[in-house]
Amino acid sequence: MLSLSSIDLKKARMETFAIGVCEDNDIHDDPLIAAVIKKALQLKEFSGKKDESITLYDVPEIKAQRVILQGLGKLEKINPEALRCMAGQIVKSCINKELTDLWFAVPDPSKLKIEMSAVLEAMQEGAYLGNHLFQKFKVAEKKKALKQIHFRITEQITPKMRQVSLRVAALCEGTTRARDWVNTPSNEKTPEKLTRSIVNLATKQGLKVEVLNEAQLKQKKLGALLAVAAGSKSKPALVMLEHRVPGAKKTLALVGKGVTFDSGGLNIKTGTSISDMKSDMSGAAAVAATLIAAAKLKTKTNIIGAIPIVENMPSGQATRPGDIIRSYAGKTIEIGNTDAEGRLILIDAISYVIKRYKPQVLVDLATLTGACVVALGDKIAGVFSNDDELAAGIITSGEKTHERCWRMPLPEDYKELLKSDFADMNNISSSRAGGAITAALFLSEFAADTRWAHIDIAGPAYLKKASAYCGPGGTGFGVRLLGEMLKVVL
Ligand code: BES
Ligand code: MN
Ligand code: ZN
Repeated sequence: MLSLSSIDLKKARMETFAIGVCEDNDIHDDPLIAAVIKKALQLKEFSGKKDESITLYDVPEIKAQRVILQGLGKLEKINPEALRCMAGQIVKSCINKELTDLWFAVPDPSKLKIEMSAVLEAMQEGAYLGNHLFQKFKVAEKKKALKQIHFRITEQITPKMRQVSLRVAALCEGTTRARDWVNTPSNEKTPEKLTRSIVNLATKQGLKVEVLNEAQLKQKKLGALLAVAAGSKSKPALVMLEHRVPGAKKTLALVGKGVTFDSGGLNIKTGTSISDMKSDMSGAAAVAATLIAAAKLKTKTNIIGAIPIVENMPSGQATRPGDIIRSYAGKTIEIGNTDAEGRLILIDAISYVIKRYKPQVLVDLATLTGACVVALGDKIAGVFSNDDELAAGIITSGEKTHERCWRMPLPEDYKELLKSDFADMNNISSSRAGGAITAALFLSEFAADTRWAHIDIAGPAYLKKASAYCGPGGTGFGVRLLGEMLKVVL
């Protein structure tokens, strides 16, 4: 879908040529483009302000049916995220116009004080992600994604930029794959179905795949995971994906919460909070998609993906509030609330991966708490870690990909809130305050002395409102972030 090419604007026939326009500076190094921008600015309908856009037809300077100019705002405000948004907005407007093929002008990186590879990366990400549609369940009124999106760069840098394109395509394919899984309704992604879908794609990409089914989970005593699954007609699974690199010494483990629907269980959710709970497997989607992308990119570290997949439902077989269960690690847990299910499946997956693979670093992603959304809003994830360097690596990666992360504390003395009168721990805090923190502290008990980070993505994993390069629903948050993080940790 993405391609690089050095065309002659006067000669090449194009359906659409798109130009990002800076409000107070010329950021393109091309007299033809400068002439077109000048013409557009003279119209007074367009000034290059952020999010403004104008379409010109039959422009003599450029052999395109139409030229779209999209405002980027003031030069000092133009960063990679502004470029992502600009590209996404242009792609979306072309989809709405039922076009098929688009050419982008790439600004002169020296004028933006951003490296060429970063300019191209951001624009390609915005374009790729903005071109994603989830229409599997639509019969009428289907839109069509663009077939080809070209980026005009000089011949001499094209070979170097090919690497950038390949990486963008793999990680954005992963991101849209995660979005598709999240957007799929829970009746079409029961634990069995989601497991099969992940196994199929992972196998195709050459990952080593192993699925622990219900009988094996019972035999291995993953009691916390099984307790969550008990109320559902669907059978749970723990999907293990392995990207192995001969000779690589270090191993990163990724764990993703895969609750295909979170009704709350017998502590059933009330009001509107239940309606978006198909998205409660966003961590699982991000982890599976990241492993597939890592295999495609031949990433040079060992990566293990551990994905516990269950449905949290009320029924005559469901785990009750007050029940005491035994986790894989051996600790007993009193179920204070069946809606605090994510931490139960995560601790068994975490303990299992640590015991079996002894990873140097473990990162879990989970739509874990509404409290994290209250704390940070719905666009920023919470990061909790027992390792400063790991936390810093995640936060820096998020700045780069604009999947924003904010470090939260793990205060030792709050652990008291998780005490139970009858078991080793309670799965909920005795206080309503600091819910994202107490959930993370619960997990921390099972990470023990492994370098570990927990990313609470309850907010940014699922956004009802579309944005510049994402449709409504699943965002695929975490795939590009983890892809970037792989470069800086280990
Ligand atoms: N899946 C939810 C958390 C969630 C809330 C995700 C909103 C996305 C948006 C989680 O399983 C849950 O129900 N958490 C409870 C914990 C409570 C019972 C201690 C919560 O946040 O209310
Ligand atoms: Mn819940
Ligand atoms: Zn949940």
